Amino acid sequence: MIEAPAQPPVRSPGTGVRVERVTKAFRTRGATVRALDGVSLRAEPGEIVTVVGPSGCGKTTLLELICGLSRPDGGTVECDPAALMPQRDLLLPWLSAVDNAALALRVRGLPRERARAHAAPWLERFGLGGFEQARPAQLSGGMRQRVSFLRSLLAGKPVLALDEPFAALDAITRAEMQGWLAHVLDSEPRTVVLVTHDVEEAVLLGDRVVVMSARPGRVVRTLEVDLPRPRRRTEPGVLALREAVLEALGVQG
Ligand SMILES: Nc1ncnc2c1ncn2[C@@H]1O[C@H](COP(=O)(O)OP(=O)(O)OP(=O)(O)O)[C@@H](O)[C@H]1O
Ligand SMILES: [Mg+2]
Repeated sequence: MIEAPAQPPVRSPGTGVRVERVTKAFRTRGATVRALDGVSLRAEPGEIVTVVGPSGCGKTTLLELICGLSRPDGGTVECDPAALMPQRDLLLPWLSAVDNAALALRVRGLPRERARAHAAPWLERFGLGGFEQARPAQLSGGMRQRVSFLRSLLAGKPVLALDEPFAALDAITRAEMQGWLAHVLDSEPRTVVLVTHDVEEAVLLGDRVVVMSARPGRVVRTLEVDLPRPRRRTEPGVLALREAVLEALGVQG
């Protein structure tokens, strides 16, 4: 049986994430789809790297490679152990919020009651106090995403791969959740690769923004975000970088 640590590991002393010239294609019904074409990306331990790119450019494919869920055709992926927060919220509808969050601990071998006891204070910390027994259908979209994020966090891996965590939320909730995530990662540092369609989100949250081209995905630009935190979406540095990312994406401002 694996003991859950009192606190998940704080910071990886290891590799972080190193993706070097990775290619990946899918073959379905005789046709070949080239998803990634020579993608390189680095996240040092404790860094937050955000990835933006058009739909279908291989962002989810990239996260699956980082998490070891698939292997590249070419190039290399070197990475500390990583947990994936998938694009679709995969909460189990018949389980309570606390049991959904605790699933990561159950998978690690903890018995149900111990897993629950370990997860419960985290729900409180994540603004979900009083909703421990609620089913996913009884939670708001933002709450569901917090449970889903907590499940990834409790997997106890030094790397978090977050696949468009806030894409399905309305603009106000999304803005709240961006502030919330920045705050959580401040007190619980992890190496993070966060995929998003939202250019502003990429700049607000990232230490570095990786901009990808349309499929087959290539890295067209990597921008350092050398701005103190917390960041405001209206501050000049954020606005300037947002423009630079849009330009790299080929979107007219
Ligand atoms: N398992 C698979 N089998 C066949 N094709 C796949 C598979 N996974 C992804 N693809 C294809 O690879 C390409 C990249 O897909 P991927 O899901 O990585 O894109 P994405 O950037 O995450 O898109 P979105 O922004 O819409 O989520 C797409 O053309 C997709 O159809
Ligand atoms: Mg995707």
